[in-house]
Amino acid sequence: MVRATRFLSSTLGTKTVVAVTGIMLFGFVILHMLGNLKTFTGTDAHGVPHIDVYARFLRTMGEPMVPDEFVLWATRVTLLAALLLHVGMVIRLQVLNRAARPIRYSHRPERVVSTVAARTMLASGVLILVFVVIHILHFTTGSLSMLPEVVPEEVYANLSRAFGVWYVAVFYVIAAGLLGFHLYHGAWSMFQTLGLDNPDRNQALRWGAALASVILVLGFCSVPLLFIIGAMPEPVP
Ligand code: HEM
Repeated sequence: MVRATRFLSSTLGTKTVVAVTGIMLFGFVILHMLGNLKTFTGTDAHGVPHIDVYARFLRTMGEPMVPDEFVLWATRVTLLAALLLHVGMVIRLQVLNRAARPIRYSHRPERVVSTVAARTMLASGVLILVFVVIHILHFTTGSLSMLPEVVPEEVYANLSRAFGVWYVAVFYVIAAGLLGFHLYHGAWSMFQTLGLDNPDRNQALRWGAALASVILVLGFCSVPLLFIIGAMPEPVP
């Protein structure tokens, strides 16, 4: 117990918490992106869009063993805890870094191996947080009254109405791009924290992180883009 506490309060322990919670959040965004692709797979035998059936499944999963929305809420609480830990430990790392270097550099040292994604991690992270809050207020709680109406359980129609407005679609495309940027460097840092990096395979790890981020961005962007260019069928009333 004492050992675990000591490890978690060290820089390496803090970085490990950031990496592990990052993996959990990464898993969520992959599943969310794959789930969103159900927007393109049409309707069931009753004419209900597959994406609506899927959203209903997420709410009723585990029934009747557990009450309605139990698994959904358990997942929400777990993800929120992972997000809070991820952000909290990133802030802690910043504080530790500053404490280790109390006197500011008089001039910036040469940047050794650093990409734009690496230098903008904090900024992209904050912007993604802002996006997630707006996104939940938009589609989950339907609280943004200046945007097209959001009807509970009618996910396909909600997406169609929302992305019929060009600036809403552009907002989501920009958010997906930002997420890709953040995840590219995030995945790479995670490999280093977990000690998976090694000169023999670093190139492959970087390519893997880039490929996963590009697939994720394309998957997320496909929904707003296909609605905005008019390639998606109108929702059946
Ligand atoms: C860009 C394309 C995206 C689309 C089209 C999209 C679509 C949606 C929709 C329709 C819902 C509500 C589902 C329902 O009513 O049951 C939702 C929920 C949610 N989305 Fe997204 N999303 C996108 C990107 C993202 C990204 C990039 C993130 C995270 C970084 C994210 C995080 C969430 C979260 C946390 C929820 C709430 C889940 C819940 O608690 O019920 N989404 N999304």
